[in-house]
Formats: sequence, structure tokens, C-alpha cells
Amino acid sequence: MLIRVCKISDLIDNKPMKFSVSKFEIVLIKIRDKVFATEAYCPHKGANMEYGEVIIKGDEYRIRCHLHCYEFNLKDGKLMFKPYSRDGNWYYSNNLRIYDVKIINDDIFIDIGK
Ligand code: FES
Repeated sequence: MLIRVCKISDLIDNKPMKFSVSKFEIVLIKIRDKVFATEAYCPHKGANMEYGEVIIKGDEYRIRCHLHCYEFNLKDGKLMFKPYSRDGNWYYSNNLRIYDVKIINDDIFIDIGK
């Protein structure tokens, strides 16, 4: 099911922005001509991803959580980097949830599934 979030002109390049749509809180990130949608809170310890930093490495796009600097791939949400070498419950993180984005005219929609 598609839900309209905002206009593409509402976004600022490379700046994560949080939106509430229906019962969902999501973060949209516009990088060049692409728009990514993620869950609003970090799967590690729940930090607000709106305060994350966008990292561009060639054609790989990441968001770095501001709290403990874990980095997630914006295409699939995969955890790419954590600054701690130790394992264990506190250090564990799921991947970041990524929503499919559709742009129709100037409007951005996310697919929240069924
Ligand atoms: S809360 Fe995001 S890296 Fe820890």
C-alpha cells in the first residue's frame, strides 16, 4: 500500500528529514536524484535517524547514526560498519528497515506493504 509523504521539493539534499504518516514515522533522505525512506529510529538503541549523517562513497549511500556511529546502507538497510570490535547483546543491531519509494509527479510515496 502506497502512502503519500510529501513533495520532493520539501526535501533538502543530503539531510535526513522525519515525517509522520498514518501511524508510521519515517525518515526521507534525498541524495542527488534518489530518495530513500528508512524507519525513523535506529535498530541499535533507538536514536532518531533524522540526526544521522549521510555518507556517500562512490555510488554507495549510507546513513551514520549520530549516537554510536553505526552505518547502514540506504539501499537495503544492511549494517555496514560498527565502531566496536566487541560482540554481545549491547553491540548487536538489526539492519535498518528500508521502505520502497515511488515518485509520482512531484509527490513522494512509500510502500508500507499490505
Ligand atoms: S542508537 Fe544508533 S548506533 Fe546506537
